Parts: sequence; C-alpha cells; structure tokens
Amino acid sequence: MKIAVIGGTGLIGSQVVSILNAGGHEAVPHSLSTGLDLQSGHGLSEALDGADVVVNLTNSPTFDDASPAFFRTTMDNLLAAVGDAGVGHAVILSIVGADLVPDLVYYRAKVLQEDLLKAGPVPYSIVRATQFFEFMDAVLAWTADENTVRLPATPVQPMAAADVAQAVADVCVGAPLLGTRDVAGPEVFTLDELGRITLAAKGDPRTVVTDAGAGMFAAAPGDALVAKDGAVIAKTAYREWLAR
Ligand SMILES: NC(=O)c1ccc[n+]([C@@H]2O[C@H](COP(=O)([O-])OP(=O)(O)OC[C@H]3O[C@@H](n4cnc5c(N)ncnc54)[C@H](OP(=O)(O)O)[C@@H]3O)[C@@H](O)[C@H]2O)c1
Repeated sequence: MKIAVIGGTGLIGSQVVSILNAGGHEAVPHSLSTGLDLQSGHGLSEALDGADVVVNLTNSPTFDDASPAFFRTTMDNLLAAVGDAGVGHAVILSIVGADLVPDLVYYRAKVLQEDLLKAGPVPYSIVRATQFFEFMDAVLAWTADENTVRLPATPVQPMAAADVAQAVADVCVGAPLLGTRDVAGPEVFTLDELGRITLAAKGDPRTVVTDAGAGMFAAAPGDALVAKDGAVIAKTAYREWLAR
C-alpha cells in the first residue's frame, strides 16, 4: 500500500513512516522540508500521486489564535487535492476530549480539522490521542521560573509518541473507520503529580506548585482529557519511558 505521510518529518510522522515501511508498505514523508507546503498547496498533487492513503500529521506552528486558520486552510487544500487524486482513505491525528475543552483555541482548531474531514469527499479515519510523554518538557517550560513550576491538578492520561505512531500506522493500513478511535496511555495522573514525577526523574530541584489557573491545561474541565470507555490503551508506562 502506498501511503503519503504529510508531516512525515515530525515527531509522530517520522515514526509512522518507519513503522509502515518496516511493515512492507511504501510510506513517503512529505513536509515543508521536503518541498510540500500544505498551507499554500505547493507540491501537494505530486505528493498524492499514486497514493492509496494520505495521513495528515502536520501541526500548527503556534497553539494560539492562528491555529484555526492553519487547520482550516491545510484541510481545505488537502481535501480538494485528495478528491482530485482519487486517494481512497484520509487519516488525521487529533486529541482525546478536544471537543470538551472549548476554552482552548487550539483544541477548537482540532475539532474544526475533524469536522472538515468528516464533511469531506473521501472515506476517513480520525485517531484521537492523549498528550504525548514527549510534550511534558514544553508543558513544564510554559509556567516555570528558576525555582518553581506551576501546574494545575488536571487529570491526564499521557502516552508515548511511539505508541501514538503505532496506533496511527494501524489505522492507515486498515479500512476507513468513518469515525474516531481514541488511544491513551495506561495510567491517569494529575498534571501537577506528573510534573513532580518528571522533575524527580531528571534530578531537577525545582518545586511543582499546584495552581488551578496555570498553563494551557487549566482550561480542561473535570476529566475531559482522560480516555473514555472503548479507548485503545497503550502499553508504555510513563516511569518506564522516563527511565530509558
Ligand atoms: N502534542 C500532543 O500531546 C498531541 C496529542 C494528540 C494529538 N496531537 C497532534 O499530533 C499531530 C502531530 O504532532 P507532532 O508533535 O508530531 O508535530 P511536529 O513534530 O511539530 O511535526 C509537525 C510536522 O508538520 C510539518 N508541517 C508544519 N507545517 C507544514 C506545512 N505548512 N506544510 C507541510 N508540512 C508542514 C512539519 O514539517 P517540517 O519538519 O518540514 O517543518 C513536521 O513534519 C498534530 O496535529 C497535533 O495536533 C498532539
């Protein structure tokens, strides 16, 4: 099966390419650095030529008010080109509970991306993953100073990027779901607890201060970011991953 992996040089995309090629498929990475700009559409028809499946693993350069326009333009371009190219299956990667966090513009942008795909001309699949383990360093940096990191006690169920990539690759080679598959890590933490575990594992002397208003995830109500019944639960545990 030939699979065009747009965003195929990114954290998830590069691992999806490796998994698919190791499985005997022909996965081709496309991104800004290979000459495809999904915002302008430059290079898109060439990227989709002969592809059976396209998976869009691009990301907006920022999580702010510019993100809805990024996801709208890139999905409009992709869906127009997919229709023309006769690709049989389009896959995107979204976020567990994105629709339950309307106060976060980036999450609204991901729901917009999902809605555009659902309304598009091609059989589709949406994989929704929880927060990546690899994302923790950025989360800590947003609200840190020299001595403290401020984090809310928001429940999260993070997972390894490698497990996300496996879930995406599995969906790419299957029949279109015409729906959504949730994938999540094996354990639920509060974000402040996850911060303490992370700093301790890295020998970082800073203290985590629980702050209900700190950072992007303060906007997530209740257990919005935790997987619901029916989610695929990945194997890799956070402490095991940190210890590697
Ligand atoms: N962070 C999380 O915890 C989380 C959780 C669930 C879902 N997700 C979703 O996972 C997806 C992938 O995230 P990631 O962390 O793997 O992203 P990433 O590492 O930032 O990679 C982004 C990729 O998009 C490409 N790209 C950016 N703008 C482009 C454009 N205009 N045209 C073509 N390619 C473009 C980049 O290309 P270059 O490398 O060439 O610049 C790169 O290959 C995102 O859609 C995100 O919403 C994230």
